[in-house]
Amino acid sequence: MDPSKRLLFRADLDELRTQFLAGIDPPAFELAGPQENIYFEPDTLKCGIVTCGGLCPGLNDVIRSIVVCLRERYGVATIHGFRFGFTGLAEQNALPPIELTTRRVSQIHEVGGTVLGSSRGPQPVDEMVDTLERLGIQLLFAIGGDGTLRGAHSIVEEIRRRDLKIAVVGVPKTIDNDISFIDTSFGFDTAVEAARQATRAAYVEASCHRSGIGLVKLMGRDSGFIASFATLADTQVGLCLIPEVAFSLDGVVRVARQRIERDGYVVIVVAEGAGQDLLPEATEWDASGNRRQGDIGTFLRENIPERMRAEGVSVSLKYIDPSYMIRSLPANARDANFCLRLGHAAVHAGMAGKTDTVIGSWRRRLTLVPIPTAVSSRKKVATDGYLYRTVISVTGQPDDML
Ligand code: F6P
Repeated sequence: MDPSKRLLFRADLDELRTQFLAGIDPPAFELAGPQENIYFEPDTLKCGIVTCGGLCPGLNDVIRSIVVCLRERYGVATIHGFRFGFTGLAEQNALPPIELTTRRVSQIHEVGGTVLGSSRGPQPVDEMVDTLERLGIQLLFAIGGDGTLRGAHSIVEEIRRRDLKIAVVGVPKTIDNDISFIDTSFGFDTAVEAARQATRAAYVEASCHRSGIGLVKLMGRDSGFIASFATLADTQVGLCLIPEVAFSLDGVVRVARQRIERDGYVVIVVAEGAGQDLLPEATEWDASGNRRQGDIGTFLRENIPERMRAEGVSVSLKYIDPSYMIRSLPANARDANFCLRLGHAAVHAGMAGKTDTVIGSWRRRLTLVPIPTAVSSRKKVATDGYLYRTVISVTGQPDDML
């Protein structure tokens, strides 16, 4: 058997075994796609789109795909683009929505970010539903991460309380790829590709200096998917630090020294949420309700050379933090393709009257995942799973870095 096939087969078996041992039924979801029956009348339907949370490559592609599919496939006449996240839906301080036409969105995928603007944090749900009622919107698309999806769910609850005929469909957006029951989220592929440019630069810098260290900080607040995939995309990386695995400064210095003794240099990738226990406890929260992380990148940048100096080793450390450069990129070809399909699937679901659902991607098929299920837990890198075991195998770093 082709060894790569055997590994894939084993990975799936591992996951099923873990679920079986935990007494969990393997998840099954409704497939997304065009539905036989359409619930809404396209001629009179008014739709809304809102983008919330941090930026992510592909946001404009998803907006464009939803607009073009609604207008050109279903003939929907009115689509409002709400400005700056849920603030655009709440009445207070709201900027008027943008009218989204096929022409208006035709080129937006060429740039990063979102033409609608974004913001973090919830808004009063009654005000948001008042706005939907006032504008006569019957189908709302919410593109965002777990906070946004929770917000979308509370909109659904308020809609139900008022007994309105308004559907809400989510498209999951998380550059960290940390939403449950969704294999990969849009923008993640672009992020890994761009992260590789940073690790390559780190390698060049590190390998061209005596006892060089290239240190790259990547996004990943609670989940180290970008860091892990970037490590596998560039096997020059000798140490990958993620939030799911505890380490000490001594442990990091020990591995870095071994690499420098062996190769003359070391490339280290650290996810932003890694090693938070080494930093003063963060006391601030962002508007989405996430604890603000301490800066592990600058901590390592200062402390690794200092600790090595104390051990009599002089190093040259170059630090790269490409986080916002990555997040603001336009989607690469693979993500552009993915975003197009996500947008279409969201429209098909919404036109069929599905609500409180988010478009998932599960084992290469687009699915409908109930929003409460998608936000029930945060997806993390399994330290005994295939991905992290491959990271360990490729970098050669020890399991225990304490
Ligand atoms: O949206 C996820 C994310 O990119 C995280 O990786 C990061 O911690 C956070 O957003 C930072 O966002 P901001 O600086 O916009 O609050």
